[in-house]
Formats: sequence, C-alpha cells, structure tokens
Amino acid sequence: MSEAPHGAPIKTPGQLVAAIIASFAVPIVIIVLLVIYVDNSTRTGAGTDSLSEAEVSARIKPFAQVDIRDANAPRVYKSGEEVYKAVCSACHASGAAGAPKFTNTADWAPRIAQGFDTLWHTALTGKGAMPPRGGTSPDDYSDFEIARAVVYMANNSGGSFPEPAQPAAGAAAAASGAAAAAPAGASDAGAAQAAAAMAAMASVPQAAAPVAGGTSADASQAGKALYQQVCQACHAAGVLNAPKFGDKEAWAPRLKDPMDTVYNYALHGKGAMPAKGGSTASDADVKAAVDYMVSAVK
Ligand code: HEC
Ligand code: HEC
Repeated sequence: MSEAPHGAPIKTPGQLVAAIIASFAVPIVIIVLLVIYVDNSTRTGAGTDSLSEAEVSARIKPFAQVDIRDANAPRVYKSGEEVYKAVCSACHASGAAGAPKFTNTADWAPRIAQGFDTLWHTALTGKGAMPPRGGTSPDDYSDFEIARAVVYMANNSGGSFPEPAQPAAGAAAAASGAAAAAPAGASDAGAAQAAAAMAAMASVPQAAAPVAGGTSADASQAGKALYQQVCQACHAAGVLNAPKFGDKEAWAPRLKDPMDTVYNYALHGKGAMPAKGGSTASDADVKAAVDYMVSAVK
C-alpha cells in the first residue's frame, strides 16, 4: 500500500513501456477505423452488384420519362435497318405469329407482288397479327421510317423496291405537329380511358421501381407484383379493350398463339398495349406477369 500513496497508475517500468506503446497504438487504430467508416458506402457483400451505381440508378429512376424533342430541329430519320432491328425483327426475324420471315423469299414473294404501296399501307395500318406500325406510335417512327423498314425487309427477301423519298422538312413538321395535337384534341372515350390509365400508372408509388428494375428470385411473386403495379391499370377493368384479368373468353383467342408470341406482345406492345405496359421492368418480370395473368384464365 505504501509504495503508491497517491494512487499513481504507473508503478513499474514495464507499465511505463506499455503505456507509451498504447499511446501510439490507440490513435492509429482510431484513424484506421475512421478511414474504413468513411469508405464504407462503396462496400457490397460478395457476389452481389445490387448496390452498384448502375443498379441503384436503375432502381431510383423516375417511373415515367418525358422525352423532350425540339420540333424545329432537323429530323434525323432512322434507316430501314435500324427500324427493322428495333421493332420489326421482334416478329419478322423468327416468323413469329405467321409473320413473313426476314430473308425468306418464299414467304415474301407473294407479298412483294402486291407492290410497295400496298405493303407500306399494311405496315401502317396492321393486318391480322401484324400490329399497326409494328406496335409503335407515329411519334416514335414516321411513315417514312416505316416505309424504309418495309423496303429493307422486302429487298433482303427477294424484292428490289427503290429507297422511298425523304419527306420535305415542312411536311415532316406538319405531320409531327398533327401527331402531337391528336391526344389533346381527341374526344373519343378510348383516348379518355387511356389518359385515365396512364394517370393511374403515373401515380404508382415510387416503391414500384425496385421490383420493376431489379431481378427477382421468385418469378411468380415478381409477376404478381408487376401485374399489380403496372398491368392492372388496363387489364383489371379491360381499358382500351385489354383482355380482362380472369376473363377466359377474352383470353382464349389470344392463347391460341404460342406463348412466345404472347410474351412478344407484352414485351414489345400490340395495338394500344404499350411495350412492357409502359414500364421499365426486366423481360423476365414482364414474362412472369404474363404467366400470372394467363394462370388466372387456365
Ligand atoms: C408483333 C409482331 C410483328 C411486328 C412487331 C411486326 N410485324 Fe409485320 N407482320 C406480322 C405478321 C403476323 C404478318 C402477317 C400478317 C398477315 O398476313 O396476316 C406481318 C406482315 C407484314 C407485312 C406484309 C403485309 C402484307 O400485305 O402481306 C409487312 C410489309 C410488314 N409486316 C412490315 C412490318 C414492319 C415494317 C414492321 C416494323 C415497323 C413490322 N412489320 C413489325 C407481325 C409483326
Ligand atoms: C395502357 C394499358 C395497358 C397496360 C398498362 C398493359 N396492357 Fe396489356 N394490353 C392492353 C391492350 C389494349 C391489349 C389488347 C391489344 C390488342 O389485342 O390489340 C393488351 C394485351 C395484352 C396481352 C395479350 C396479347 C395477345 O396475345 O394478344 C398480354 C399478354 C398483355 N397485354 C400483357 C400485359 C402485361 C404483362 C402488362 C404489364 C407489364 C400489361 N399488359 C400492361 C393494354 C395494356
């Protein structure tokens, strides 16, 4: 007791050495921990890229996007090949739904014989399982671009149509003006229903994004979730003549097509059905949503 009357903590030379070492080591450990803490945000678990910048921005991106185009900018037209690859190949590459197959001269010969104007007209207005404009809108692809795609397909399948003439700048501006004015001026019930459906989709909570953008382990859950977030805006009530959920009669004629065709319609659109229902969901999730809808009418 008497060796340490004032309660001094360091009593032996050994303790003195330990105290000196500790006074260096402790700040270093603290600094190391702080560095790890600051750098923490970029760490992810092994085997997952779900926190990568691309994945995160895909999940938090706005549900609906507005594509702003300058109406006065000189329009750059897509080539026939570009339109074909982006739109028409969905059916015409494989011959899905009985589409005349790209480069198959036997499929195309009787159609080419009808003449370019007839084919162009059919491509614009649709025929059987062929949706008008391949399911696109005039804002996406002009008549001229569709014409180019027709020529591209026909000429790669035994035809020799001349390249269609590019419309004059004034005509193009007038056409796009008319297309832009149409939704505002349209008064028919279909347009109103469509507007209501689109409004319903716009009000889908942002929480929809993770399911819609991510990959889901459980396909049937993902399909049901996507249906509830996106597809039911039209398919629950049959807006725009969408086949109604659970309505066997509405679905039966469609399910005569092979499932791949039905998937293709859901992925790439058909008539008033927007591609992926207008969402940015993964292909797998859209197919899962189709499966979910189809299982309800089986
Ligand atoms: C959803 C599937 C699908 C997409 C997408 C599609 N087509 Fe078709 N297309 C068809 C089917 C099916 C036929 C056969 C229709 C028939 O003869 O009943 C067809 C036929 C045609 C024909 C021949 C019409 C005739 O009079 O015989 C042309 C031309 C054509 N498509 C052009 C296009 C162009 C151009 C695109 C892209 C902008 C396109 N298609 C996108 C399914 C599709
Ligand atoms: C804006 C309204 C709308 C939304 C949203 C919508 N659909 Fe559709 N859907 C339609 C319409 C309209 C049709 C009928 C198209 C036709 O036959 O011309 C259709 C048809 C379909 C078909 C049948 C295609 C065939 O074989 O004829 C499937 C499958 C389908 N939709 C799946 C989906 C899926 C999956 C979603 C959600 C990811 C979805 N739809 C979201 C309007 C919509």
